[in-house]
Amino acid sequence: MIHSRITGTGSCLPGDPVTNDALIAARGLDSSDAWIVERTGIRARHFAPEGMAASDLALVACRRALAAAGRQPNDIDLIVLATSTPDFVFPSTATILQDKLGITNGGAAFDLQAVCSGFIYALAAADKFIRSGSHQRALVVGSEVFSRILDWQDRGTCVLFGDGAGAIVLEASDTPGILATALHADGRHRDILSVAGQLSGGRPIGDPLLRMDGQAVFKFAVKVLAEVAEEVIAAAGLTKAQIDWLVPHQANIRIMQATTKKLHLPPEKCIVTVDRHGNTSAASIPLALDEAVRSGKLGAGETALLEGVGGGFTWGAALVTL
Ligand code: ACO
Repeated sequence: MIHSRITGTGSCLPGDPVTNDALIAARGLDSSDAWIVERTGIRARHFAPEGMAASDLALVACRRALAAAGRQPNDIDLIVLATSTPDFVFPSTATILQDKLGITNGGAAFDLQAVCSGFIYALAAADKFIRSGSHQRALVVGSEVFSRILDWQDRGTCVLFGDGAGAIVLEASDTPGILATALHADGRHRDILSVAGQLSGGRPIGDPLLRMDGQAVFKFAVKVLAEVAEEVIAAAGLTKAQIDWLVPHQANIRIMQATTKKLHLPPEKCIVTVDRHGNTSAASIPLALDEAVRSGKLGAGETALLEGVGGGFTWGAALVTL
């Protein structure tokens, strides 16, 4: 039986951290460090400079993941890249990344859009490709330049997000690494978090910036994350007591704490990067995973629950062992 395993992780954060105070001063916001920290846990985030695109951040993250896996770019026969802030309408950011990596082997490459759940969707998709036997080695990537779609006049959203990328190398293996995945969506909730601009005749029309009903998102996220955690643990035939680490989407420390509690995990077993990265949407989980691996927290043989929720609404989880 073919399984898939994570053999390397990598990530990229552009530039220097921008603290809450620096952001407030730069944008003239009626806000405070204390408000942002208390409501979200966010203290800083990174923003990509003008001219730096999602594919540029992804390139650095992927090179680091490839080096960690001991692989060359042309060993990769599948790229699944999750983003809501692609370089262009088309070609896909995945094919731009493929070219920048110098991959010429004709492998598959495509973008996947599930907003903040994007990395979980991409991981589940790549896992299924590999287990089917059609592909051997994938780069699974989340990369975002959310700073480009923020309304700097809206203090309720512009303080929450940051830019970055994370990537893993996922390879066919005789032993299980991805133990179970679960994906869900409910389009009835599509209006509580959206960027509703459209293309018409090739031109953007409507509102191209992020709009959110924060309290509705908060309640929805806490509920579905608890449910999908239970689901994926049961699907793998495990119990909560066998989960070593929670690597959640980094949106808000209070959402993460609620899930940690529901899993009966001690707080220190939840990987937290939201304080330094903000919410990097599809990049947040692989950024947190890379930090957990490189810091030596998440070790070989340990089991981690990855989970995310985002616009659509979409949500999902993956249970992995390294
Ligand atoms: N600084 C100061 N005051 C602010 C700020 C700010 N940055 N933002 C909003 N406020 C004000 C509001 O204007 C409001 O003022 P008012 O009472 O005079 O009208 C007051 O604070 C309370 O606003 P609420 O929206 O009720 O604040 P709440 O406690 O809900 O916190 C927050 C807002 C942080 C957005 C919260 O709802 C939240 O975290 N929701 C989850 C959203 C999230 O994580 N989204 C990420 C994207 S989705 C995802 O990744 C899953």
